Amino acid sequence: MNTPDFKTSYEKQTKELIEQHNLDKAMSVAVGGNFEAAGKLERDLLIQYGLEKNHNVIDVGCGSGRLAFQLSNYLEGEYIGIDIVEDLFKYAEMKCNRSDWRFYQAPGLSIPEPDNYADFICFFSVFTHLLHEESYKYLQEATRVIKPKGKIIFSFLEFKIPSHWWIFEQVLADNRPDKVLNQFMSRDAIESWAGHLGLEIIDIHDGDKPHIKLNDVVKWEDGLTMIDKGNLGQSVCILTKQ
Ligand SMILES: C[S@@+](CC[C@H](N)C(=O)[O-])C[C@H]1O[C@@H](n2cnc3c(N)ncnc32)[C@H](O)[C@@H]1O
Repeated sequence: MNTPDFKTSYEKQTKELIEQHNLDKAMSVAVGGNFEAAGKLERDLLIQYGLEKNHNVIDVGCGSGRLAFQLSNYLEGEYIGIDIVEDLFKYAEMKCNRSDWRFYQAPGLSIPEPDNYADFICFFSVFTHLLHEESYKYLQEATRVIKPKGKIIFSFLEFKIPSHWWIFEQVLADNRPDKVLNQFMSRDAIESWAGHLGLEIIDIHDGDKPHIKLNDVVKWEDGLTMIDKGNLGQSVCILTKQ
């Protein structure tokens, strides 16, 4: 079976969406839809784990800016959004209108920022599109760039959660060699990787159970409303470096 290259496949998918929809719609669908709802949940998850206004955040695979847009009226510290698809991070930059923030092309699997620089590094729905070796390389980089006691947060798909199964079925049925990869991850892998990297797992949350304390009502495009607590659908893992 062919392994799709993450850059080629994601760029192709984004171009196709831009041809099919108006720009706002294309930019939302390209990152999974629910631009506002997912962004609010991602922001509130970071706040729940200690994000302060003056912190530095690196958003790897920032896409079209679901998180960045929701942080743009909150965060006074530096935000760095990196992504492999230029159409996406340029849109995020335009939406946020924060001339003090940096958006740039991800080199691939590295985070070209100084050691011990960031308070938060997040990968929302990014390891879901990478091979395990690639995700591990990104976590190695995040371990270098995160400050001691800073938080690394990522979301992931797993067989443990019944509501993730339909995504696996979609992958099974999709024979296109250039499809965007949808990768599942086990908690055993996460524990092993954290051990090898010297990271501590603070929490792992089931994607199908509300666990994010909300600062704002979250309305999904299908009509679902979350009021006090919410969840992203994907499971999330929060790690720290001692
Ligand atoms: C499902 S979208 C999620 C975007 C964003 N994190 C969010 O939650 O809205 C996945 C993003 O990961 C980006 N991506 C895929 N492979 C990547 C890589 N190796 N480095 C950085 N970004 C990558 C894609 O271009 C896409 O924008």
